[in-house]
Amino acid sequence: TDSTDTADGGVLRMGTNATFPPYEFTDENGEVAGIDAEIAAAVAEKLGMELDITDMAFESLIPALQAGTIDIVLAGMTVDPERADQVNFTDSYATGVQVVIVPENSDIAPVEQEDGSLAVDLTGKTIGVQTGTTGDLYCTDDYGQENVKQFDNGPLAVAALVNGQIDCVVIDQEPAKNYVAANEGLKILDTAYANEDYAAAISKDNTELLEQVNAAMQELKDDGTLQSIIDKYITA
Ligand code: ARG
Repeated sequence: TDSTDTADGGVLRMGTNATFPPYEFTDENGEVAGIDAEIAAAVAEKLGMELDITDMAFESLIPALQAGTIDIVLAGMTVDPERADQVNFTDSYATGVQVVIVPENSDIAPVEQEDGSLAVDLTGKTIGVQTGTTGDLYCTDDYGQENVKQFDNGPLAVAALVNGQIDCVVIDQEPAKNYVAANEGLKILDTAYANEDYAAAISKDNTELLEQVNAAMQELKDDGTLQSIIDKYITA
């Protein structure tokens, strides 16, 4: 970025992985768009900063923060205790839920639990995930690494599902809805694998930015901007 054309507050360098609609995707102009890009733009405006977005592999985001090549991650990233050892999370700005995508004719089905909730058992199935995501971490823990097939992004995992190379994909619900809408013959199982909070991540070295972003996000929550950005992309 050319430092001569920056806003007074400098440049806010955001990292994301733009294969995750409606949080982030590449629009028809080749720009990163979506909920996270719009929230980051609103935060940057409040801070008098210019927003610069870099699209990279999801698993590279935390290392990039730690290396100082980006300042902030907004990537539908789940607040997770192991990540919180490595980076600071802002206050949460959205919630997510892990779901299971299967072919319409799959024999994988939710089973009613003693408490009346629905759960799905993926034992013995080949599960596709995006590398380094919570879906990856949970499925590796629950079903073993040998049953989990990692893909660089959700669309590649879904393509493998469509081609019959894997039995299901575990991924966040809103992207899952997009992927299912974009492909024939898939459905989302009526079960929530895990409920999660999304937050932005910032280097532990940059507590000043953490405070600034939390303050800006609080204003955006209070004045309704945050909800209106989410409502633009997600219909309840
Ligand atoms: N919420 C999940 C996680 O934090 C998946 C996020 C994937 N985000 C993305 N932009 N591809 O692990």
